Amino acid sequence: MAALMEKIVSLCKRRGFIFPSSEIYGGVEALWDYGPLGALLKNNIRNLWLKKFVQNREDVVLIDGTVLMHPKTWEASGHLESFTDPLIECKKCHSRFREDQLTKKECPQCGGKDFTPSRQFNLLFKTFLGPVEDEAHITYLRPETAQSMFTNFKLVQESQRLKVPFGIAQVGRSFRNEITTGNFTFRSKEFDLAEIEYFVEPGKDEQWFDFWLEEWRKFFLDLGLKKENLRLYEHPKKSLAHYSKRTVDIEYKFPFGWAELAGVANRTDYDLKRHSQFSGKDLKYFDEETKKKYYPYVIEPTMGLERALLAVLCNAYTEIKGGRTKTTEATKEIEVVFKIDKKIAPIKVAVMPLVKNKPELVKKAKEIFEILKPHFMTQYDEVGSIGRRYRRQDEIGTLFAVTIDFETLEKDDLTVRDRDTMSQERVKIKDLVECIQKQLLKMD
Ligand code: GAP
Repeated sequence: MAALMEKIVSLCKRRGFIFPSSEIYGGVEALWDYGPLGALLKNNIRNLWLKKFVQNREDVVLIDGTVLMHPKTWEASGHLESFTDPLIECKKCHSRFREDQLTKKECPQCGGKDFTPSRQFNLLFKTFLGPVEDEAHITYLRPETAQSMFTNFKLVQESQRLKVPFGIAQVGRSFRNEITTGNFTFRSKEFDLAEIEYFVEPGKDEQWFDFWLEEWRKFFLDLGLKKENLRLYEHPKKSLAHYSKRTVDIEYKFPFGWAELAGVANRTDYDLKRHSQFSGKDLKYFDEETKKKYYPYVIEPTMGLERALLAVLCNAYTEIKGGRTKTTEATKEIEVVFKIDKKIAPIKVAVMPLVKNKPELVKKAKEIFEILKPHFMTQYDEVGSIGRRYRRQDEIGTLFAVTIDFETLEKDDLTVRDRDTMSQERVKIKDLVECIQKQLLKMD
């Protein structure tokens, strides 16, 4: 399975999905840059999420809060005190590990068996607000987007005239100084969280928890993940986060094993109460109908966009032994197709002249590219034999390859090749946009 992960990492670098951050300086552990295709893919996942949970719902609104917040936020939230992992250090090679993630008490780097006693290590990244670097100006890069949804609770509720139950959604950068990294992007130090804080009446929290867990699970099916590679993990009471009454993780079967993809937590009224206490502001909700005033309970579905993307890549990577195409030039021992779901594939259409040394074909292909560009993420591709170009587009998950050949010049039609079935259909140029739109809609 490590071999499969290596192939995915290598393809991601070679084809421009994901690169090590600051690669020319040797990279930085657990920091990753998303290249041209990775950036598009991540955007597509984010947009699908926004469409499903904000655009399509009347009870959820979006905000975009800052990464740096008032330092009191992190006292109130409990992160200063409790956002820690148990850290131990190998006395021989001085490598550091999360104690709870070492399966046997042996250093994975040097095999040493002697460790320092465990201490709690806080994962918050510390920085200073303003030019004075002293205690009074310390703040932290947010480790989750959740807190600004709590600190803005009243402003959002009143400005939008929202009635409980309602949700605030946010997607944005989060930072954690993780001790254990590895497994590609799985545990990064900087990543995007997509979260909803859904405010409900106390007593109705358990039913809303079940609702959101199912909605969250369905989102991963929408991303095209296979059902059998998803499962739920119920956190035992004793290992719940300080704010949680119940937490269920959605796990994905990555090549390196089952691991947390996303989660849903019942945060009770912990956060609103704490922020009321620390700010002195009344964050209770007043129900106009019942005339009751209370702290709403919060159901929090949360996911890391990079983890979703990693699962999408692992799910999509397909090797076909012996290759699918049998023309001598194109045949490979192993052919790779990235079967990324049609809704989120980074490139929807590739436009190719059959050969690049016929100016009339190239001219026509460029005209077709111009027609398609405003409608779909399109790539113009003329380098190499047509077979090689199909292989290259399959490898990055492009849905359709449109080929301009000599018949195109006479009949104003072209071939549209489907990535998954490799079937080719001749379509009139005037019908091309509509034809692709229809195919994409069918898949939505
Ligand atoms: N607001 C709740 C919260 O942050 P969490 O379980 O700590 O909960 C939420 O994180 C999600 O963020 C996880 O389910 C996972 O998808 C993602 N995540 C957490 N740590 C991550 C990391 N170091 N790198 C990438 N994604 C991470």
